Amino acid sequence: MNFDSAYFDAGVNRIGTDCEKWDGMIAATGDPDMIPMWVADMDFPSPPALKDAMAKVLEWNTWGYTIAGKKDAEALRGYWARRHGVQFDVEDVLMSPCVVTGLRLCVRALTNPGDGVLITTPVYGPFFAAVKGNEHPLVESPMVMDDNNRFTLDMADMEARLADGSAKLVLFCSPHNPCGRAWSEEELKAVVDLCRKYNVPLVCDEIHADFVYAPGKHHSIMSIEGAEEIAVMLCAASKTFNVAGLQQSSIVCKNETMRKAIASEMENGGVRSGNAFALAATRAAYTECDEWLDGLKRYLADNRDFVVEYVAENMPKVKVTPLEATYLMWLDCRELHMEQKVLLDALMDNHVKVNDGTFFGDLGYGFIRLNIGCPRAQLYTALCAMKNVLG
Ligand SMILES: Cc1ncc(COP(=O)(O)O)c(C=O)c1O
Repeated sequence: MNFDSAYFDAGVNRIGTDCEKWDGMIAATGDPDMIPMWVADMDFPSPPALKDAMAKVLEWNTWGYTIAGKKDAEALRGYWARRHGVQFDVEDVLMSPCVVTGLRLCVRALTNPGDGVLITTPVYGPFFAAVKGNEHPLVESPMVMDDNNRFTLDMADMEARLADGSAKLVLFCSPHNPCGRAWSEEELKAVVDLCRKYNVPLVCDEIHADFVYAPGKHHSIMSIEGAEEIAVMLCAASKTFNVAGLQQSSIVCKNETMRKAIASEMENGGVRSGNAFALAATRAAYTECDEWLDGLKRYLADNRDFVVEYVAENMPKVKVTPLEATYLMWLDCRELHMEQKVLLDALMDNHVKVNDGTFFGDLGYGFIRLNIGCPRAQLYTALCAMKNVLG
């Protein structure tokens, strides 16, 4: 099969699949014409190999307790070595349902009651919830935005918050949702060095690792010198191969003490992986789908360039954060001086649902997040409607 632009242009009809993005939105808004440019999954079919793998499981006609383990960790290890040049052992891997489960487990396992947890903001909403929901003080380190809307870390601020003991754990998003950064090796090394200096565990959510656009490259935290002492890497096939509904992810940690603490937290919470369909599909994703993924990345890079051009021509007051990674674009609408609710309501009135910037923290006020993981025709229709409000 040819995973060219015609394949991705065709998309997939998701209405009636109980998906949050379309069915959930239509149920909530009552608007069947609403275009969903929000929640982070894609309007493309998953690779055919996944359907084949799950069809085989369906054929078994028996789905008792499943072994989740070595085979799955081997597929994961092979994938990360091949695609990202990262080395870890099968023994370093724990299986978990979702990446957000992993974030929450790590907060619980790697801190003591009352310990502060640092996040660099704005960031994916569940980072806040993973800290606050577990009753830990939230320590925000705002990132710095330059004149081109590119975000960088404020290392001095981060250091101050670790040095005075306010934060005893760092949750980090790499690549970054919603700011689209693919962190450089130097930036990651600085974060690792800081965490080592203050002996603070570093939990790195790498769910968007596969969406770093050329000429960039994803640098996993696991490939940074010294990270093996303090880092946990959370990853999944869910974003990459569009299978978030299967609920399967992995936790990679080379530090045995930390890994055992996470495993014990999983045990205590009764958190298990073992969905036969999810495991089979994930193994297929990690071993048989490179061509599909390469085609997808080309298509998404074109979608990104299309948005940049369209916004520059038609919405001159909107600034687009450079998208080095992810399929989620961060649009700065502050120059329009609209109240956030008025802005979002106006977009909805024009039948476009995007993510509210404040889902990513207070610093997201005046911003919206646009999901470009869809056929170009859908993207174009959404942009034309957005122009009525933002143009
Ligand atoms: C940075 C980040 N982490 C985690 C998730 C969710 O992952 P999961 O569905 O495996 O919990 C998302 C989804 O958008 C995300 O952007």
